[in-house]
Amino acid sequence: QLHTASNLVWQSPQTTPEHRRDLLKQYPVTLWMTGLSGAGKSTLAFALEKRLISQGHACFVLDGDNVRHGLNRDLDFSPHARTENIRRVAEVAKLMNSAGLIVISSFISPYREDRGAARDIIGNEAFLEIHISTALQDCERRDPKGLYQKARAGLISDFTGISAPYEPPLTPALSIDTSSSTVDSCIERMLKLVEPFLIRD
Ligand code: PPS
Repeated sequence: QLHTASNLVWQSPQTTPEHRRDLLKQYPVTLWMTGLSGAGKSTLAFALEKRLISQGHACFVLDGDNVRHGLNRDLDFSPHARTENIRRVAEVAKLMNSAGLIVISSFISPYREDRGAARDIIGNEAFLEIHISTALQDCERRDPKGLYQKARAGLISDFTGISAPYEPPLTPALSIDTSSSTVDSCIERMLKLVEPFLIRD
């Protein structure tokens, strides 16, 4: 149930996005990774974050497993809960972008409509969709957390790719199959994508 805010007045800050841009030497952007469990989203997200930080850029990873331990601990994996998960994450990414940060979000985000809603919340010009397109058979072969095995055994319901859908993006800014490339080469491709948002001295 959605409740519309009432008796609330939007408060205007005395700083501008331009002040933060000049301070942090970057245009805020959200790199929205989407893909199956085990596709390599978190690995790439944290490696990219490390690289950007080492280059002096302020960025932060929002990761599914981590956010579900705190902010979204009340949400399960039903379609409705996943939609709410992605909505909240998009709102957080928007706040972080407002703070001037580069955000790397790493969620399965299986529904096209939910990712479209995230794009609407964050703003089209600041939203870059990256499909981590590693095939289901490769994700299942890796099975880093043993979840596919549990899902096949019927111990986890609504598991993405097995008993719940995954809708791939139709026009991602970038598509990365981690089964056929090294982490470094994937990071280089993502860095190229984010390059226009970085201000060099
Ligand atoms: S979603 O679909 O975007 O809301 O999912 P997300 O917040 O990214 O959380 C995915 C991680 O939760 C674990 N997990 C499951 N994934 C998919 N389906 C089911 N039923 C499920 N149950 C638990 C799993 O560790 C996912 O992590 P990743 O990093 O994607 O492997």
